[in-house]
Amino acid sequence: MAPAASFIKALFKQTIDKGKSFLLSVPLKLKILGLALGLILFFGAVTIYNVQKALKENMDDFLKEESRFIAAGLSYQVYDYLLINDLYGLTQMLRDMVQSRPDLRYIFVRNSTGQVIAHTFEGGFPADLLMSPAGIPSSSSELRLLHTNEGKIWEASAGISNGSEGVVLVAVRGDRLQRQIEGITGALARTTLLVAAFGMLLSLGLTWLITRPVGRLLKATRAVQDGDYSVRLIPAETKDELGKLMEGFNAMVLSLASADNARLEKEYLQRDFLHRVMAGQEGERKRIARELHDQTGQALASVMVDLKMLENAKNESDTSQSIGRLRKAITEEMAAIHDLAVALRPSVLDDLGLVPAVEMLVRSFIGRQGIMVELTVIGFAEKRADACTETCIYRVVQEALANVARHAQATEVSVLLEWRGDKIRGVIEDNGIGFDPDMVDAKTSLGVLGMQERTQLLNGTFRIESSPGEGAMLVFEMSARAGICHE
Ligand SMILES: Nc1ncnc2c1ncn2[C@@H]1O[C@H](COP(=O)(O)OP(=O)(O)O)[C@@H](O)[C@H]1O
Ligand SMILES: [Mg+2]
Repeated sequence: MAPAASFIKALFKQTIDKGKSFLLSVPLKLKILGLALGLILFFGAVTIYNVQKALKENMDDFLKEESRFIAAGLSYQVYDYLLINDLYGLTQMLRDMVQSRPDLRYIFVRNSTGQVIAHTFEGGFPADLLMSPAGIPSSSSELRLLHTNEGKIWEASAGISNGSEGVVLVAVRGDRLQRQIEGITGALARTTLLVAAFGMLLSLGLTWLITRPVGRLLKATRAVQDGDYSVRLIPAETKDELGKLMEGFNAMVLSLASADNARLEKEYLQRDFLHRVMAGQEGERKRIARELHDQTGQALASVMVDLKMLENAKNESDTSQSIGRLRKAITEEMAAIHDLAVALRPSVLDDLGLVPAVEMLVRSFIGRQGIMVELTVIGFAEKRADACTETCIYRVVQEALANVARHAQATEVSVLLEWRGDKIRGVIEDNGIGFDPDMVDAKTSLGVLGMQERTQLLNGTFRIESSPGEGAMLVFEMSARAGICHE
């Protein structure tokens, strides 16, 4: 039994789920229409059923009583005719009675031997009626229900002179009352249909009220989906939940529009920054090319001259003088090329890592600017961060120190690098003239923007704390394991 029960349960659940998903997928219009129509038709059907049932019960009782009453009344009259043996008069009286009362289907009289002695049938007495029980009832009348092709017929019999002289049978037809009941039922059904039609109109109006704003909302949502943020809904006409929904929609579109604007602006700034970075790179290349051409080219040319002189040297002192000049020129050139290479990208950064590279940077800064720099490195030990993280931090420190040299007029600088957990934090502080970071012009200040972009690219944070006369502090933090490097 258990599997069968669980199968039925599963089937039941499946049917309910199917019905639910069907109801959910039906359009709102149909839902409301279906609800209204269903309710009206249900009430109509129940009312018609109840009224019909009550009327039918009443009808049966009424017909029973009527047939009994007429039969009982007639039994005395018939007895009078029998006493004077006026069968013709009796038949005439019975026919008159049937004609004057449309409810009466027929009447006939049997004598004590069961013979039909008078009846109301014009064309002879129907044979099937003879099949009816011939027994003579006693004083109480008997009743039977005949189902004929003319409908229900109640036939009551009453004994004449307590049954000793025969019996009178009276049949009352139900079809007329039945037709009346059908008429009432028909009228009720028509009323129900009328109400249903009216209900349909009403619910159509209601759905129109509901679905029109919903349709507008849908249209507006599609427009927003396609990127049109200028759509607005006019919620003034509805003050209900739909109106509130429209207000909410408008607010949402407004904030979407401003978010989109911000995104576009950011995109524009990024593109603009990229252009400027590229222009900066091109400028840098130009500078290096010029340096190579002007300085290295010049130096090599003078080396050539010295070599020529060496070739033509006539005595020992000329030779040693030329060799000395050559050595000096080559040494200077080596230093210049080294500086150039370091400026481009210090090989120490790749070979030895961030800390030695920053140490070198700081040393050269002190040497060149004569400004005190205190460098503190915590938690690095022999560890190496990802290459892109190292490059990023190196460039940030380089730019920060360059800014100190160019703008700060500082006498002391401190550089702190701290590796804690999987994060590297850096703080570069100077005691210079300071500036307002909010006033930095994003269009011309490639340095600050570059530092910001570099750290953001590695999901790091970057901020400058400074105000005029207060010195400047630059703080950044990023993951030591920034991932794949795109450089
Ligand atoms: N340490 C600092 N002290 C004072 N002013 C600074 C400092 N760093 C940056 N600034 C100010 O911020 C501006 C923007 O710097 P930056 O973006 O590097 O551009 P640039 O160095 O090319 O002028 C500088 O012009 C300068 O006015
Ligand atoms: Mg700068």
